[in-house]
Amino acid sequence: MDKLIQLTRIGFGTTFSFYVKVHSFHWNVEGSDFYEYHKLFEEIYNEVYGAIDPYAENVRKLGGYILPVINNLSMLTKIEDEDHVPTKEEMVQELLQDSERIQIVLKKNYDAAEAAGEHGLSNFLAERMDNHRKHAWFLRASLKGSM
Ligand SMILES: [Fe+2]
Repeated sequence: MDKLIQLTRIGFGTTFSFYVKVHSFHWNVEGSDFYEYHKLFEEIYNEVYGAIDPYAENVRKLGGYILPVINNLSMLTKIEDEDHVPTKEEMVQELLQDSERIQIVLKKNYDAAEAAGEHGLSNFLAERMDNHRKHAWFLRASLKGSM
């Protein structure tokens, strides 16, 4: 169970930091198709934002705690920080890679939840993986022709 709690915390932290990154890209994106990307990033961060609270509550359902997030997030996440503002194309490429990384993180969490018979959690994670797959599709599709 401890391993499942830790994997669920990592999935939560990764989801939360992905949300922060997408939202910052929504603010910082520039270029000829500014509005299109500004809206695409908004659609993604809104969807991911909706997962943050239920993800944390799944940690609590397992008996784990969520420590103050700002201090804890960098230890939990599998998403890398940015220390500069990427170009529009770099943003899309980076979010696509992150979306694929998140799916791997969530799959580990899913497998552990299934093994523990935690089907409520695994159902939640199956839906999360599907949503991230959809984000990856949108991001991949918007890269075509722009590079
Ligand atoms: Fe906005």
